[in-house]
Amino acid sequence: MTTIDVETLRRWLEEGQPVTILDVRPTAERAEWAIPGSVHVNAYDALKARDPAALAEVDIPSGGPVVTVCAAGKTSLIAAEQLAARGVEALSLEGGMKAWSLAWNTAEVPIPGSAVWVIQVRRTGKGCLSYLIGAGEEAFVIDASLDPQVYLEQARSRGWQITSVFDTHIHADHLSRSRQLAERSGAMLFLPEQQRVSFPFTAMRDGDTLATPQLMLTALRTPGHTPESTCYLLNNAFLFTGDTLFLTSIGRPDLHANAQEARARSALLYHSLHKLLALPSETFVLPGHASQPIPFDGLPIGARLAEIDEQVGLLHATQTVFVESLVQRLPPTPPNYERITRLNESGLLPDHELTELEAGANRCAIS
Ligand SMILES: [Fe+2]
Repeated sequence: MTTIDVETLRRWLEEGQPVTILDVRPTAERAEWAIPGSVHVNAYDALKARDPAALAEVDIPSGGPVVTVCAAGKTSLIAAEQLAARGVEALSLEGGMKAWSLAWNTAEVPIPGSAVWVIQVRRTGKGCLSYLIGAGEEAFVIDASLDPQVYLEQARSRGWQITSVFDTHIHADHLSRSRQLAERSGAMLFLPEQQRVSFPFTAMRDGDTLATPQLMLTALRTPGHTPESTCYLLNNAFLFTGDTLFLTSIGRPDLHANAQEARARSALLYHSLHKLLALPSETFVLPGHASQPIPFDGLPIGARLAEIDEQVGLLHATQTVFVESLVQRLPPTPPNYERITRLNESGLLPDHELTELEAGANRCAIS
């Protein structure tokens, strides 16, 4: 065996098996996104040129195999061959970082003394955060971004049936799997009220609530990142903010908007953020994205509203300063966002080229 697939490496990391991950991509590519705990060697050009000394300087720790990684799994094969020639057990990651985009891990949000569980399902290779919320025999899912099977198995292993699936907004950075998950599980599909998508769903308006004996989810309309963006408040204690509010940044307001619209959306976002800040300061915020690769550490990415209020200076700006600051620091829109948005509006998942289409880090935040 000279290669390893994403699922096997993902499982090794989840189980804490000893492995050294050697990233052989150019420095600039690594800076975009990487596998947590991986080691970098800037040997890409030398490997491509088949320089037999390309990895001569690399110190390989003993214990466990080495997994070599590049962008698409070709140059990493050369690296694995060179290491094997030195007697090192080396495997090349099939499909490289493109395929790694679908790797995931989970973290439980501790809720002492409660019969409610919140599991953060993290797409570590891309930074997308989704949520499985369970109590009794029922579960809700928010912002599914992975194969429906992942959520179905996680729910089944805890004795839950997924009954309701929600999206916080029409996503632009990844393909939503919510429609497919709802179909596979027989769950209801809830989306913020809007006229953008061309498939059936149940609309969530501001203040709408869905309740089971132990779960109460309330929609809070928070336009800005997108016109329909909606946060969900669980049991008046946990706030799922999608791309409206992150732990150290806020959602960008300019996707699919011209300069004038981006300005208007920034003003909407200002009001939406202040609507959230009016919630109790101990409310625990669980966002829709992380801006860094997510470690296999089981630690949920979340913070109390009060902590975020301290971290994000823009939350203290006047509306005028807030809007001006945002429109001046809009990052470039990744080229794949337009196509992903159209697919999310149509509700169709392409059979192939999924990882090709979703490649690259998410760019939904402004810090
Ligand atoms: Fe988004």
